[in-house]
Amino acid sequence: MAIPIKSENEIQRMREAGRILALTHEELRKYIKPGISTYDIDKLGEEVIRSYGCTPSFLNYNGYPASICVSINDEVVHGIPSKDRILKEGDIVSLDAGVIYEGYHSDAARTYGVGEIDEASRKLIKVTRESFFEGLKQCRAGKHINDISKAVFGHIIVRGYSAVVDLVGHGVGAHLHEAPEIPNFPTRRRGAKLRPGMTLAIEPMINIGDYAVRWLDDDWTVVTADGSRSAHYENTVLITEGEPEILSRADGIEL
Ligand code: MF3
Ligand code: CO
Repeated sequence: MAIPIKSENEIQRMREAGRILALTHEELRKYIKPGISTYDIDKLGEEVIRSYGCTPSFLNYNGYPASICVSINDEVVHGIPSKDRILKEGDIVSLDAGVIYEGYHSDAARTYGVGEIDEASRKLIKVTRESFFEGLKQCRAGKHINDISKAVFGHIIVRGYSAVVDLVGHGVGAHLHEAPEIPNFPTRRRGAKLRPGMTLAIEPMINIGDYAVRWLDDDWTVVTADGSRSAHYENTVLITEGEPEILSRADGIEL
C-alpha cells in the first residue's frame, strides 16, 4: 500500500486536529482521580472534542462504541468505557483518543497514575513515554520504518519490559489507519523509507511482564495474558525535511 504524502493544506488540518486532541487530553487529565467512571471520562472527552466542532475518530470505528479508549492496569488498549468501571487509588489508566478536523485525523494516547501509584507503575509509564521519544529521534527523511521500531524496542527491552507485538502503530491522515504499519519491535525488512509529508502514529504499548496479550469477550479490550500492568503512549508525527514535528500537541501543554 502506498504511503500518502500530505500537502501543506492537509498538514494544516492535521495540526488543528492534533492541537484539539492535545487540549482534549489535557482536559481529561484533570479528571483522572479515584471515583470517576470510565463512562464519564468518555462522555467528557466526547463533549470537549465536539465543543471544538470536531468529531471523535473512534466512535463507531469498526463498531467501537465510544469516543475514548480507557484501559486500566492489565488492559493494554481499547478498553470500553462503562458506568461500573470506577478508577481507584493506585490504578494506572491509559486514554487513547482520536479527533477529526475537516476530514483529517489525529491520534494520541497517554497513561496516567490514579492518585498515588507504586514505583513499578511509575517506571512503566515513564519508560513507555521515553520509548516514543526514542522512536521520534529516528523520524527523519531517508531513514526507514524499522529504524523507528528498533529504537522503540531497544529502549523498552534493555529496561526489562516487553513490547506488545500483536498491535502496531500506523500511518494516519484522511483515515485513522493508513499505511505503513509501525511495529514496536524490529522486523527483518527495513520497511518504507521516510519522506517529508508522511504522518505517522507511533504508539508503544509495553508490559511489565510477558509480551503476550489476549482479547476479552467484548472483542475489543486487549489485556496482558499474565495479568501484569501495561502502558501506552502515542502521538501523531509529521516527517519533514528536518526535525520531525509532533502534530498532537498544543502550546503550553506538556507531552
Ligand atoms: N489509537 C487506536 C489505534 O490506533 C485507535 C483505537 S481503534 C478504536 O488502534 F476502534 F478503538 F477506535
Ligand atoms: Co493509533
